[in-house]
Amino acid sequence: MVTKIDNPFLVSGYESPEFFCDRVQETEDLLTALQNGQNVTLTSPRRMGKTGLILHAFQRLNQLYPQRKTIYIDLFPTENLTDFARTFSLGVLGQLDSNPMRILKKATALLKGLRLNMTVDEITGQPKLGVDVTQGNETTTIEQVFDYLKRNEKECYIALDEFQQIATYPEKNVEALLRSHIQNLHHVHFIFSGSRVHMLNEMFLSPKRPFYQSSTNKTIGPIDEISYFSFAEHFFAWQGRKLPEETFRFLYDRYQGHTWYVQKVLNKLYEKQHLLLNDEAVTEAIADILKDNEYYYQTLLRAYSKGQGKLLKAIANERIAKGITSGAFITKYGLTATSSVKSALSRLVDDEIIYPSEDGYMIYDRFFGDWLAQTYRFQ
Ligand SMILES: Nc1ncnc2c1ncn2[C@@H]1O[C@H](COP(=O)(O)OP(=O)(O)OP(=O)(O)O)[C@@H](O)[C@H]1O
Ligand SMILES: [Mg+2]
Repeated sequence: MVTKIDNPFLVSGYESPEFFCDRVQETEDLLTALQNGQNVTLTSPRRMGKTGLILHAFQRLNQLYPQRKTIYIDLFPTENLTDFARTFSLGVLGQLDSNPMRILKKATALLKGLRLNMTVDEITGQPKLGVDVTQGNETTTIEQVFDYLKRNEKECYIALDEFQQIATYPEKNVEALLRSHIQNLHHVHFIFSGSRVHMLNEMFLSPKRPFYQSSTNKTIGPIDEISYFSFAEHFFAWQGRKLPEETFRFLYDRYQGHTWYVQKVLNKLYEKQHLLLNDEAVTEAIADILKDNEYYYQTLLRAYSKGQGKLLKAIANERIAKGITSGAFITKYGLTATSSVKSALSRLVDDEIIYPSEDGYMIYDRFFGDWLAQTYRFQ
């Protein structure tokens, strides 16, 4: 039994296999593809568990092959090629050592053309490694790092999370640049992952794009209900509490097993030790979560126009909305013309506020959807 974690239902990051539920098959599939020299594209809606799965698979790889490197790089905050060059080189260099001073020493010997610097982190006071990348020397920096990876002949795994970001950079030909470097690295295996499924599919499945058919596509869905129940039941037993199967099902069904939402409610239920674990307790935990976030939801809603807000409320009320541009839907929710509904919809989908699921449109953040439906109830 682990003591250092107060609440075993983690709601951010990855800790260890003990707190990671199932994904046995997905992990196996991912490892098999990588071990067979394939690059993998991993997609799913947000908060389903892609990043967790990558880190879990890397943990296994580190156990299986301690001499091989696993490198996880999050491209979400990058907006242009300069950001990419900096994030990518620091991500790769970070694997040389855990100590920034020693990295600096090693990197200076290994990467002659790279301009590194050392600063002090304002918050932690610890030395922090930086790379001088300016407009104009990004491609050289990137080349240097790939060159280093090539010379360092050890088998290595690199995850580029939120990879679709590169398609949004203002610079042209970024995909072609990366593709040309990546295809020459036979001992480095890549995972390209992200939640913008449409964008990633375009990049990897369109014959016109540089990454066309260069990797194996994998998607993940919700965790299996029975495995998730055993996982949850086991941890409530730590507290001497019994989680009835039907209570878990009530929660799982409410969010169709969408990982983070189920996990967040379990975390809250674990925190509220006085509650008897039943449907009412689940409803109470959800109400608490919505309350904690109320200010954020209000602010988020205010960032949109009246028309966009009305559409959000209408979709939240339906939970899964079909025929949004139909006369019946427009009349039911007092919306304006079809054209303005269409443009509002396009903006909200683009901002990832609304998710176009196979069954219909829904509010992407399911708790925000719950809050909207509860706050703005239609008759
Ligand atoms: N197998 C799992 N067992 C337990 N919790 C999990 C599991 N997978 C994911 N989670 C929980 O769900 C949260 C969201 O997962 P993760 O960040 O991996 O999703 P994601 O698909 O990468 O989301 P995004 O697209 O927003 O980056 C994690 O912080 C973790 O708390
Ligand atoms: Mg992620």
